[in-house]
Amino acid sequence: MNRTKVLMVCLGNICRSPLAEGILKDKVDPDKVFVDSAGTGGYHIGNKPDTRSIDVARNHGLDITAQRCRKFFSADFEDFDLIYVMDKSNYANVLSLANSESEAKKVKLLLEVIDDSPLEVPDPYYGGNDGFEKVYQMIDQACNLIADNLNQQE
Ligand code: 4NP
Repeated sequence: MNRTKVLMVCLGNICRSPLAEGILKDKVDPDKVFVDSAGTGGYHIGNKPDTRSIDVARNHGLDITAQRCRKFFSADFEDFDLIYVMDKSNYANVLSLANSESEAKKVKLLLEVIDDSPLEVPDPYYGGNDGFEKVYQMIDQACNLIADNLNQQE
């Protein structure tokens, strides 16, 4: 069977989606699931994740330092099966690049998978370090459920 390809998307691709990429990768079989991340904005292309994301990931035993920022582009709709966005603004930006109903259907808010949860992972970029731990916990909870679903597929 082909690997399921999952793309995590936020605005900058330096804070939230690199965490989401690292967290989900750690929960799935790489032979079955490919995980990548991208940003709708192009401010930090080629950069490592924000040091606060690197630190919070390291505190939880994950190394995300090999990741490099890239921009989301419309060809990602062909490459990826599932596109998880962190907030409604990311959702609108990604959806505006979809060319068909089937492409649009691939886009989901990451936190939708959690019952009775807020729907948006807040942007921690302008806040303090505690924002990054909160964001980590939200993403981790969602990725546990997403990984359970992916790991059940044959
Ligand atoms: P992210 O956070 O979308 O979680 O990566 C941001 C990072 C950088 C900027 C905005 C959000 N920025 O405007 O540079």
